[in-house]
Amino acid sequence: GHPYVHRQDGELWIEQLPLAALARQHGTPLFVYSKAAMLAALAAYQRGFAGRQATICYAMKANSSLAVLQLFARAGCGFDIVSGGELERVLAAGALPSKVIFSGVGKTRAEMRRALEVGIGCFNVESEAELEELSRVASAAGVAASVSIRVNPNVDARTHPYISTGLKDNKFGVAHERTLHAYRRAVELPGLKVVGIDCHIGSQITDGAPYLDAMDRVLDLVEAVEAAGIPLAHIDFGGGLGIDYNGDRPPAADTLWAQLLAKLDARGHGGRHLMIEPGRSLVGNAGVCLTEVLYLKPGEHKNFCIVDAAMNDLPRPAMYQAFHRIEPVRPTRGNAQRYDVVGPVCESGDWLGRDRELAVRSGDLLAVLSAGAYCMSMASNYNTRGRAAEVLVDGDRAHLIRERETAQDQMRMERLPG
Ligand code: LLP
Repeated sequence: GHPYVHRQDGELWIEQLPLAALARQHGTPLFVYSKAAMLAALAAYQRGFAGRQATICYAMKANSSLAVLQLFARAGCGFDIVSGGELERVLAAGALPSKVIFSGVGKTRAEMRRALEVGIGCFNVESEAELEELSRVASAAGVAASVSIRVNPNVDARTHPYISTGLKDNKFGVAHERTLHAYRRAVELPGLKVVGIDCHIGSQITDGAPYLDAMDRVLDLVEAVEAAGIPLAHIDFGGGLGIDYNGDRPPAADTLWAQLLAKLDARGHGGRHLMIEPGRSLVGNAGVCLTEVLYLKPGEHKNFCIVDAAMNDLPRPAMYQAFHRIEPVRPTRGNAQRYDVVGPVCESGDWLGRDRELAVRSGDLLAVLSAGAYCMSMASNYNTRGRAAEVLVDGDRAHLIRERETAQDQMRMERLPG
């Protein structure tokens, strides 16, 4: 699962650098990313789409560091954004606005105006009310907004219980049965130009079947919309492909897309311009979070291994009970014991791993694996903890891409009333 993280004489390395040296130089908690791993993950998609007209729009919410965005922009990616803040980030990283698509159920008028001003490629509209608002904002600006409607394919939950965003009872997308109506309205509205259709069925999907189901449903809609005289220039299948956190076996991106493209061809849509919005699968296994063991605290029922990273740095375990592998950075001595690996934050929910067998002492370094996606981008300042530093490794070179946040940084926006 982590091709660019490996052991050499017992020590954990990323590409050609030992992680312990990076921790020593930059301190902990520290996020370290492999450039080669990100590019290799992207290459799997690029192979999958060889010979096709396809745009890969990195869903930057997974990891929105400027250096990561720059890397994907230089590799030819577009971006899927969900806020005005994300828009400013991709522009700062050198993205082509025409390759930016804007998703999300709650775009504000100010965000719409700014996206129109810089000329993004497409708005992925999520409701009929948003169509009306976007048309008003675009008309007032004297432009037409390119739109795709996000449809909710309502993929069967009974067979695929782990995907949720493609189901009927959630806030995302326009219901399957309202889709034609929404497109008819979109073509009437003066400020809109219909260019596509999109869907996104969920995240950390480790099975190809829901994608194949969703594709069938979306193609049914494409055919119905076009039969009503509304051409759709592109189809966007969203993101969602999972990664190996703990023995998960998602299909490789190129394998999955070979299956999906075969279906697309079989249904006579092979020549379409395709878009996808992968996030996690491009960055998740390219990153680790390094943390130092502060204290060991044996207990009657549980032993705690208290580390200097916490739920504010790596919120996925606390938020979703997500599993991340945790490994010692250097060869360890002594007997392994079972620990809950927990952070310093004052919440019982502040844990990174439960019931882990570790042979550790205070001062040891641990690596939390699969930490490239939805970790730093979801980090907070809870307990007035500064956000971690980030390093991007390229072969035998390490670039500090984000400095550790200080208490002064955190207080900079605040004012005392008197
Ligand atoms: N497109 C849309 C419209 C999305 O909502 C998302 C993710 C993506 C693309 C990218 O999905 P991915 O390829 O990364 O699965 N914080 C959660 C994951 C939330 C995903 C939200 N939407 C986690 O840590 O697991």
